[in-house]
Amino acid sequence: MRLAILSRKPDLYSTKALVRAAEKRGHEVQVMDTLLFDIRISTRKPELFYDGKPVQGIDAVLPRIGASITFYGLAVVRQFEMMGVYCVNESQAIARSRDKLRCLQLLCRHDIGIPPTVFTRKADHVPACIERVEGPPVVVKLLEGTQGIGVVLAESERAAGSVIEAFHGLDQNILIQKFIKESKGADIRAFVVGRKVVAAMKRQALTGEFRSNLHRGGTANKFRLPAEYRKTALAATRVLGLRVAGVDLIESSEGPMVMEVNSSPGLEGIQKTTGVEIADAIIEHLEKEVTPVS
Ligand SMILES: Nc1ncnc2c1ncn2[C@@H]1O[C@H](COP(=O)(O)OP(=O)(O)O)[C@@H](O)[C@H]1O
Ligand SMILES: [Mg+2]
Repeated sequence: MRLAILSRKPDLYSTKALVRAAEKRGHEVQVMDTLLFDIRISTRKPELFYDGKPVQGIDAVLPRIGASITFYGLAVVRQFEMMGVYCVNESQAIARSRDKLRCLQLLCRHDIGIPPTVFTRKADHVPACIERVEGPPVVVKLLEGTQGIGVVLAESERAAGSVIEAFHGLDQNILIQKFIKESKGADIRAFVVGRKVVAAMKRQALTGEFRSNLHRGGTANKFRLPAEYRKTALAATRVLGLRVAGVDLIESSEGPMVMEVNSSPGLEGIQKTTGVEIADAIIEHLEKEVTPVS
């Protein structure tokens, strides 16, 4: 099949791993910079141009859309969908996962554990909101943050108030979340491909840090996912409509809670930690789903 990987960074570990896996399995693969597409919309004729030339003959698209280009990236993926090209993760599903509020709103209609969360725009509502999530302390987080940036632990009502004021002053929307202290700075990343969890790792934050992101210095270990966690990760992926996802779970005293679902999860940390060739699993999944036109 002819596969296009949408990525701004051909040299990234994840992109290279996917290219290698696709080529190894005999596919034709092209890394395309998401921002170099032009989108032409005319009646019954959706088109894309890449570097000035019409895009044709692509059987499948693997979007790797970074947080900083969500808007344009989603428009490009949507255009591929309009052209009838199979996209591993669809634009709607990516959009649902990008916004942490929207994601939790969708998950909360199902039997999926999530941390108690409130959303407010009003500074004078903050004390009541903190109480509603049994704080202080509380976690304050940006709706569209990644890599642990924009996730803050506020120990007191006053600290929470000033962080929230600062974010609102920058016109940033935030969530106030119950601090799950029993997780002790650990979280679990479950990597889902299709209807399976193909790999899982446990990440532990540095001493004195509660964010377990590898980008924040967290360390990772291979993890045997208990059945309840597996079920939760798969349910969250299904509710959002994703086919490839990195589900972040936290261990609370009430069982697993989904913190977020990543639609372009990194491959480096999880492949190196678990030894699972996740890129191969993604390409194999594509082979089952896609019938090449050419
Ligand atoms: N409510 C919470 N209670 C305890 N720890 C949390 C909570 N929310 C986030 N964390 C920690 O912070 C990390 C980053 O939070 P997350 O919501 O995944 O944001 P990001 O998109 O920046 O990764 C998590 O992996 C977890 O270790
Ligand atoms: Mg995260």
